[in-house]
Amino acid sequence: MNDKRSFFYESLPNRVVFGVGSLQRLPEELDRLGSQQALLLVGSRKALIDDLMQRLGRRIAEVFLDSVMHVPFEVAQKARARAGQCRADALIAIGGGSAIGLAKAVALESGLPIVAVPTTYAGSEMTPIWGITAGAVKQTGRDLKVLPKVVLYDPSLTMDMPQSLFGASGMNAIAHCVEGLYAEKANPISSLMAAEGIRRLADGMRGIVRDPQDLDHRSEAQYGACLAGMVLGTVGMALHHKLSHVLGGSFNLPHAAVHAILLPHVAQFNADAAPNAMAKIADALNADRAPQGLYDLAVTLKVPTALNDIGMHKADLDRAAELATASEIFNPRPFNRRDIRRLLEAAYDGRPPL
Ligand SMILES: NC(=O)c1ccc[n+]([C@@H]2O[C@H](COP(=O)([O-])OP(=O)(O)OC[C@H]3O[C@@H](n4cnc5c(N)ncnc54)[C@H](O)[C@@H]3O)[C@@H](O)[C@H]2O)c1
Repeated sequence: MNDKRSFFYESLPNRVVFGVGSLQRLPEELDRLGSQQALLLVGSRKALIDDLMQRLGRRIAEVFLDSVMHVPFEVAQKARARAGQCRADALIAIGGGSAIGLAKAVALESGLPIVAVPTTYAGSEMTPIWGITAGAVKQTGRDLKVLPKVVLYDPSLTMDMPQSLFGASGMNAIAHCVEGLYAEKANPISSLMAAEGIRRLADGMRGIVRDPQDLDHRSEAQYGACLAGMVLGTVGMALHHKLSHVLGGSFNLPHAAVHAILLPHVAQFNADAAPNAMAKIADALNADRAPQGLYDLAVTLKVPTALNDIGMHKADLDRAAELATASEIFNPRPFNRRDIRRLLEAAYDGRPPL
């Protein structure tokens, strides 16, 4: 069901606090949750941790530093044990999808509320989706228990995002919007957020490339990322997210870069099957065609454009195509293993989508 006369839309019960300096509101947000001793889960950013310890004192029961991409089961178990030992009554996750993902793994078991402070554009903070990896297998699921109760977006925290992560992370967020526009559960409300998300992310990030210190552009891009996270959290995704999941999880490639490289090629594959979505994407990017517009944006952001550049082995393309087609998923254009092998080869070479 996907027109303006009849549709379903489900909003998620969380609170967003947005703005430069909003990290300073952390104490009052902890008050709202009734938290006295939280476990802080954070990527290794010493200056930030020192600052928070000074500001929050005893309200931080402990700091857990070991977040790793895709939440390995052993790390989740360690964090869960630490939360129990220090009798945490809340979880504060500061970082990208990895730190927030780890907090979700703890919340899944304990039910503790999460305050998320995202420092990338990945979008996990706005979703009830969790993932835990045991061996080479990543198990994922949806549970409202893991949806952060409060999300504090402070664009100044994205200031030191490394160049290698910045553009790729933004393209990761744009991918949520692109697939949200043609997802099975797409609806006029989520589509409004998706189109606006692409526009804000693209405009904001182009501005950041011109002037990395400009906080207005930083705010614009992070607002786009917030919208993208909402889209990811409320409508299902399609082929692009499936392929990214397979390449990231089974071939140990960097999550955001995989999204950035695949996106123009998946858009090209789906172009004729989702013309309305493509028109909205092209319009938001100010481009003639969506696939080329996405590719050009990746080039502007200096993101790698070839799987070959990020450590994928050509010999693994067959296996990747096999894994991606092992189970059925929704996509506006049906596909088989040969289609996916061809798509992956174009992404491996980094050819512009034609
Ligand atoms: N569950 C969901 O809804 C969801 C959504 C999106 C992504 N994810 C997951 O998130 C993970 C990827 O997250 P990511 O792309 O945000 O990367 P990440 O969290 O793995 O961060 C990458 C690296 O950058 C560092 N970093 C993060 N922000 C920084 C900043 N502002 N300045 C300096 N360094 C910074 C981190 O400490 C880390 O070393 C994957 O495991 C993915 O599956 C989950």
